[in-house]
Amino acid sequence: MVQEKITVQDLQRMKEQGEKISMITAYDYPTGLLVDRAEIELILVGDSVGNTILGYENTIPVELEDIIHHGRAVTRAVKRAFVVGDMPFMSFNISPEEALFNAGRLMKEARVDGVKLEGGCEEAEIVETIVRRGGIPVMGHIGLTPQRASQLGGFKVQGRDKEKAKKLLDDAKCLEEAGIFALILECVPYQMGKLITERLNVPTIGIGAGPYCDGQVLVFHDVVGLSFGFSPKFVKRYLDLATEIEQALQAFKAEIKDGRFPSIEEHSFTMNEKVLEELG
Ligand code: KIV
Repeated sequence: MVQEKITVQDLQRMKEQGEKISMITAYDYPTGLLVDRAEIELILVGDSVGNTILGYENTIPVELEDIIHHGRAVTRAVKRAFVVGDMPFMSFNISPEEALFNAGRLMKEARVDGVKLEGGCEEAEIVETIVRRGGIPVMGHIGLTPQRASQLGGFKVQGRDKEKAKKLLDDAKCLEEAGIFALILECVPYQMGKLITERLNVPTIGIGAGPYCDGQVLVFHDVVGLSFGFSPKFVKRYLDLATEIEQALQAFKAEIKDGRFPSIEEHSFTMNEKVLEELG
């Protein structure tokens, strides 16, 4: 496997050469290893750790410490992919200084290569501070921004009417001017995915934004079939891991109950019979 680290310049080159960019979330060491083996270019230690791993209903309760803790595990494993740490709700919104400080913590403590934050023109000053003063690569995230789901009226497709579509375009431009290296477009009509991708110089990464984005991202647990409950239309499941794990656990339990596991030959240790005799 090629071990050379993916850089923001590589991602930019991929956009310019029309090579699609792949991205997936990861929250732990084994997943980091597997994603790197698959040579996926970008990993997001997303605040989706809240729903996928920590059992929260949404991403609002996720703390910066959660991303640091999970990010560290991922970056210990990853040699090649560019790892992005998500900035959780209220870790960047209060002031550019606090945002810069917290982005710095993700870089220093989780050892990620860049950060991501949700929001549009309103967050441009914050993005600019992190990028220009901190020298930290920032990925933007617009469209359906789950941290604002309450304000958006739930988890709905964004940018369908003229006013909202115009706002999406403005947000994309503001963020590009503020210095983002890439932009996540979540849950927008595919035509908006295409338009924004054509209008931006930096790569767009879609999740429910159609096939014309420069890259695609999904949540790891959705891809491998380890997520439970509602599944959005944009998700494609490549494996039914939950069923496979359940079957393995049932087999494990059954073998314990009927004495097939552990066997003496395969799974047990032995000792010298003489020593045993001496014990009486
Ligand atoms: O946290 C996350 O997993 C995300 C993706 C949905 C892009 O923000």
